[in-house]
Amino acid sequence: MAGNSSLNAAAHDKNDEFYTRLADIEKELRHYRKHFKGVTVLCNCDDPFESNFFKYFVLNFNRLGLKKLIATCYVTSPIAGQHLSLFDVMGGEDKQRNKPYKAVVTKVYDVTGDGGIDMFDVAELFKSHENELVELDGDGDFRSEECLALLDEADIVVTNPPFSLFREYVAVLVEHKKKFIIIGNQNATKYKEIFPLMMGNEIWLGNNNPAPKLFYVPSEKSERKNIKVDEDGKLVASFGNICWFTNLDIKKRHETMILVKRYLSDEYPTYENYDAIEVSKVSDIPCDYEGLMGVPITYLGQHNPEQFEIAGLSDRDCPLKTKVYTKAEYANYSDLNRCCVIRQNDGTLKSTYMRIFIRNKHPEQSKVVQQQCISKSAR
Ligand SMILES: C[S@@+](CC[C@H](N)C(=O)[O-])C[C@H]1O[C@@H](n2cnc3c(N)ncnc32)[C@H](O)[C@@H]1O
Repeated sequence: MAGNSSLNAAAHDKNDEFYTRLADIEKELRHYRKHFKGVTVLCNCDDPFESNFFKYFVLNFNRLGLKKLIATCYVTSPIAGQHLSLFDVMGGEDKQRNKPYKAVVTKVYDVTGDGGIDMFDVAELFKSHENELVELDGDGDFRSEECLALLDEADIVVTNPPFSLFREYVAVLVEHKKKFIIIGNQNATKYKEIFPLMMGNEIWLGNNNPAPKLFYVPSEKSERKNIKVDEDGKLVASFGNICWFTNLDIKKRHETMILVKRYLSDEYPTYENYDAIEVSKVSDIPCDYEGLMGVPITYLGQHNPEQFEIAGLSDRDCPLKTKVYTKAEYANYSDLNRCCVIRQNDGTLKSTYMRIFIRNKHPEQSKVVQQQCISKSAR
């Protein structure tokens, strides 16, 4: 998929300059409203002059009942001042571009008296020093002492962090015991640093309905293949594999997946190298199977920890493996130790894509749910 490869290229190139659209932030964050009352929010990869995360929180400061909003940015951020607002309304000369800033907001009100709150009010509150806008001492790296002190002060971190540092970014949040809502590549769910957190229910996928697909890019990226101009005339790149990650409770996480299929041994082959059955589509998870099931990674988007336990990931080191192939055994295949393997009727081996192993916590209950569904549809 073009989108995926361009995102991978972003990580590989250390090219992290993709900016989130306000509409995408609004669509996800409406599912977390109750979490924001009376808290300090930190956006620590966000130029207060440019970031739509900063804009979202500052303009919804009172509606959400925030206590404080802090935004910091990184020194090398090359944003060209093309998307937002605060830089323009502050007057370009007041602040030097390419300097890392810290914005701290504790009050937002209608300073200009025009009957509403907008970025002009926000700018006025900085100018009058009712809110704070100062240069950082260091480079604004989220790992710097100065930024970690701000992290410790925060209750919830919300941002789109650099893709190339995603593992490290999450590790810092977990180490500092922070709640967060962040954007990342869905492939990160498979990282050896991230999957255990998902398995242990320390991180999960956000609502992602819809997941963000278009991101603003600086104008010098315009030669990239997946770039277009959006309805507002801004350059956007499309990505096919981006999603929200969080450790805040959301309704979706408690929704029980309705399972309508029953286990039949003919329909669900057992792997040769795991004591588990192959379920190639999430919608085909049988309601009555008690053992381990290998399901596609996309399952994580619907995981309800009350319904299923996540038991592992079919990578090379998976402890659930019951057979390790020698090179001679898989001479005619790709490395079979990296996947789930099915022996077909003709004796040949078939490998699957990477699978997540899950176990139904209440297979009998699922049967009842299924029975109810069947009887409802028969009526
Ligand atoms: C994917 S962009 C998203 C920017 C912004 N959060 C948004 O959503 O529009 C990631 C941002 O992280 C910044 N960044 C890169 N390395 C960083 C670091 N070590 N510490 C803090 N920010 C960093 C980049 O300059 C870039 O602006």
